[in-house]
Amino acid sequence: MDEVPALGDALPLVATDPRWLPIALADLDAVHADHLHCERKAAQSALSLLRSYPDRADLVRDMARLAHDETRHVVQVSQLMSRRNVPPSFDGGDDYAAALRALIRKREPERLLDRILVFAVIEGRSAERLALLAGALDDPKSRDLYASLATAEVRHRDIFLALARDADPATWRARAAELAAAEADILAGRQITARIH
Ligand SMILES: [Fe+2]
Ligand SMILES: [Fe+2]
Repeated sequence: MDEVPALGDALPLVATDPRWLPIALADLDAVHADHLHCERKAAQSALSLLRSYPDRADLVRDMARLAHDETRHVVQVSQLMSRRNVPPSFDGGDDYAAALRALIRKREPERLLDRILVFAVIEGRSAERLALLAGALDDPKSRDLYASLATAEVRHRDIFLALARDADPATWRARAAELAAAEADILAGRQITARIH
C-alpha cells in the first residue's frame, strides 16, 4: 500500500463521553450486532462513492481497496459473533450517519469534498471507540480483533483525508474542522447507547 500521510490533526474530533464505554461493556452483544452493520455499511458506502465518481482514478483505487478491507471486517466481526454466540439482528438504524450526511452540500465540487470528509469523521470516530473497547474487553481474542480494527479505521480516516486534500487543497482543512465541530454537536444531542455510534 502507498504511504498514507498522517493527516489526523486536520480532523479534531472531541473525545467520546466517558459514560459511553461502561454502557457499551454492559451490553456487548448489542455492540457487536451493531458493529457488524457498521462494517457492512462502510463497505457499501465505499462502493457507492466509487459508483458516483468513476472518473477519479485515485478515488476508484482507494475505494475498491477500502471496500475490500471493510468486507473483511464484516467477516471478522461475524466470526467473533458466532464464536461468542452473539445473535445477529437487524440494523438498528443510522441516525448518527444520517445527521452527518445532512451536512453534505448539494452542489459539486463541494458535494464530493463533504462526502469524503463525512466518511473521514465516521472512520475517525469508529477508530476511537473500537480502541476504547480494545482497551477494556476481557476476552483476549476480541481485544486483539478490536485493536486491529481500530488501527485499520485510523488508516481509512487518513485515506479519506488525503482524498479530501487532493479534491480541494484550498478549503479541505477548514471544512474538516467545521465538520468535526458539527459532529461534536450531533454527539452531544444524542442518547448514549450500547452501539458503536
Ligand atoms: Fe472497518
Ligand atoms: Fe473503515
